[in-house]
Amino acid sequence: MSNHESSGAGKQPFAVEAEPPIAAQLFGDNIVQARRFAADLAEDGELRGLIGPSEYPRLWTRHIVNSVLLAPLLRESVADVGSGAGLPGIPLAIARPDVAFTLIEPMERRTTWLNDVVERLALKNVTILRARAEDVHDDVAVQQVTARAVSAMSKLIPLTAPLAVAGGELLLLKGRAAETEIDKASKVIRKYRLSEVRVEELGEGLDTEPTRVVRALVDAEVGASQDLTEDR
Ligand SMILES: C[S@@+](CC[C@H](N)C(=O)[O-])C[C@H]1O[C@@H](n2cnc3c(N)ncnc32)[C@H](O)[C@@H]1O
Repeated sequence: MSNHESSGAGKQPFAVEAEPPIAAQLFGDNIVQARRFAADLAEDGELRGLIGPSEYPRLWTRHIVNSVLLAPLLRESVADVGSGAGLPGIPLAIARPDVAFTLIEPMERRTTWLNDVVERLALKNVTILRARAEDVHDDVAVQQVTARAVSAMSKLIPLTAPLAVAGGELLLLKGRAAETEIDKASKVIRKYRLSEVRVEELGEGLDTEPTRVVRALVDAEVGASQDLTEDR
């Protein structure tokens, strides 16, 4: 039990959510690392400006479990754009040690935290890049790109699509407005030649909130290193 969990002591106004049973099911043997991540986030999250204390009552469900539901979709290399506190990148890296992750985050305070997490959890499959995604389009080429709570689709697609190899995929975690965002981004979707753009709900039948993800394939001709700046 975390030292922030409701104990009646009254020091912590927002009690940290207790680990839901689904977490161990989803993380399997790696649940120990997930627990450590949750405890560290609860301990340091507010202090290090990573996560507001009002998120503590849904730390597992809304953040960690929400992130790890993507794990079964992953191929061999993934870049997570705007990782912030490490969501979804860290829970995914814990659950899928067989996948190579590049977490891209421009804010130094956050990359310091991410490096600390990687060291504490001894994650061998994570590289942290302190950068804006658009500045590393020529340096990163991965099978899939994830992003959560970074920006609306019309801005997010130009940040993420150039990081994917030809035939790669975007996995953008979105809320209820996913379909509206797709409609608003139709021009950008065409420009970046995304195909099979659709919203999927992950976690159906599981005892947790579903995760909504926008999935899109990156056309073979527009994969990493293609220059789309000319007609921007
Ligand atoms: C609201 S936070 C979300 C963090 C995390 N993904 C989550 O779900 O909790 C957005 C993050 O995106 C980062 N970000 C903003 N613009 C970016 C860019 N151009 N490239 C990469 N990261 C960016 C910010 O620094 C911030 O950490």
